[in-house]
Amino acid sequence: MHLRIHPSILSADFVNLESEVARISSAEAVHVDVMDNHFVPSLTFGPQMVKRLVEVSPIPLDVHLMVENADDNAVVYADLGAQSVTFHIEAATSPQSIIDSLHDRGAKACMAFKPGTPLSPYHELFHTLDMILIMTVEPGAGGQAFLGGMMPKLDELTRYLQTQGLSPLIQVDGGVTVETLPQALRHGANAFVAGSSVFGHGIPEDNITALRLAAKQGEA
Ligand code: DX5
Ligand code: ZN
Repeated sequence: MHLRIHPSILSADFVNLESEVARISSAEAVHVDVMDNHFVPSLTFGPQMVKRLVEVSPIPLDVHLMVENADDNAVVYADLGAQSVTFHIEAATSPQSIIDSLHDRGAKACMAFKPGTPLSPYHELFHTLDMILIMTVEPGAGGQAFLGGMMPKLDELTRYLQTQGLSPLIQVDGGVTVETLPQALRHGANAFVAGSSVFGHGIPEDNITALRLAAKQGEA
């Protein structure tokens, strides 16, 4: 399957986001971390910022909601034109209704799991999801170390999806670098969020190329 790189603008220059997204145009999507100072301690963007990003970005938006009350908030970002909206199961009361409402609005639906949240209670939702996000750090901040302990969870997920004949994208988010990407890839991930390893040093497009190269070498 084609590998997807979604750079996270959490590590970009917040006062120059238009030019920052122009620096990652070879990526499949731009990952936009919406944080509300409740679900996680940090506060980032809201709908107005996302609306402008949809207008100026050369690539589609992958919106990752780290906010309370996903039931009301998810559709807001679908209405603004995000290609995919990821909500946390820990912040959702009626996940199936959220997924259906996202699809009704033409957005892809993705559900995220914090490191400590088990998958099995939510299996019946998986056939309606376009992407499943396994967090490889505790949500809330960029630049944290990749949790290698999440690899058994990725294995469990890929095994379950295989037995069911399902193929949503499997995304990992947190600590993805040229060193850790091949590891997650071997355990079934195919969509990679990378913040500090794309925007934290050097030239973002070169860093994206380096991540793709690491994936190729990891497969060989
Ligand atoms: C963390 C966010 C991530 C963050 C990843 O809560 O969801 O998307 O930007 O940053 P890095 O790649 O630096 O770990
Ligand atoms: Zn994220």
